[in-house]
Amino acid sequence: MSHFICKFIWVVHDSMGSTVRKAVIPVAGLGTRFLPATKAMPKEMLPVVDAPAIQYVVEEAIKAGLSDVLLITGRSKRALEDHFDRAPDLEHALEKKGDRALLDAVQYSSALGPLHYVRQGEPKGLGHAVLCGRQHVGDEPFAVLLGVDLIDDRDELLATMMEVQTRTGGSVVALIEVDPFQISAYGCAEISAIEGEDYVQVNSLVEKPSIEDAPSNLAVIGRYVLHPAVFDALESTAPGRSGEIQLTDALQRLATAEGKGSGVFGVIFRGRRYDTGDKLGYLKAVITLASERAEFGDDLKAWMKKFVS
Ligand code: UTP
Repeated sequence: MSHFICKFIWVVHDSMGSTVRKAVIPVAGLGTRFLPATKAMPKEMLPVVDAPAIQYVVEEAIKAGLSDVLLITGRSKRALEDHFDRAPDLEHALEKKGDRALLDAVQYSSALGPLHYVRQGEPKGLGHAVLCGRQHVGDEPFAVLLGVDLIDDRDELLATMMEVQTRTGGSVVALIEVDPFQISAYGCAEISAIEGEDYVQVNSLVEKPSIEDAPSNLAVIGRYVLHPAVFDALESTAPGRSGEIQLTDALQRLATAEGKGSGVFGVIFRGRRYDTGDKLGYLKAVITLASERAEFGDDLKAWMKKFVS
């Protein structure tokens, strides 16, 4: 993941004529796994080295060519909007000090925009958060990126998924192989290979199955490219696991449906992913990305060697 200061110029991935141009990023969850840190601060604003997790995610969407980014926010999420807005007082102070590098860093996040915002009145689940974007998205395919799931920018995923969506006309999920004992923390996919293709057919999906009930060790991670038919499926999805409206349940219905917008496909991702949504994943993300920083990576690694021994 590269440092932001030198990145005012965007290199948009060539996504081979994909028609997808909108991104929905749900950030309205309660962040309970990080309490009390997230009592008054969104978990998507936790710093990964020196930029909040959400900044990496918005950056990824824009780099993949998604020019219209919608954040689904909620109560106590003001900091997110402030982060992507101008900060005139701070900018003026940095200008007066002549600190160009920090000024660039501060202006960088507001130059990513303009972003759009819709509020999810109550955090009723990821599926419900996506449904809140219906009016903004309209009747076109769109990407969903979870604001706490980071994909290393050296490993391409989203552009590939967008191409698969355009080719198949269905919905596309990103899958990783996990240790079987970890599957109960994820949505899980049962798949079959499609001859001659590097993506797979998803036959069924189940949210957080027990290890005994899991049909595979393929876990759904936080990148989706969805057909707008998912909105109707979500409208008629009853609250599932933990009383929340699950995106996985709506996708399960599309996987087994027929007609326009049906069919779910999977892209199996073998690159670097950092799950900053839980404490251990967050710490690993910070250490991995910090150890790659030119300015202190070597010092950090030398210190870690000593610390571990
Ligand atoms: P998470 O499960 O990681 O977020 O959802 P959470 O609900 O805040 O998690 P806990 O409380 O720590 O377990 C993935 C993403 O979906 C968003 C979250 O903000 C997070 O970025 N989300 C989740 C919503 O926008 N709305 C919801 O109702 C639930």
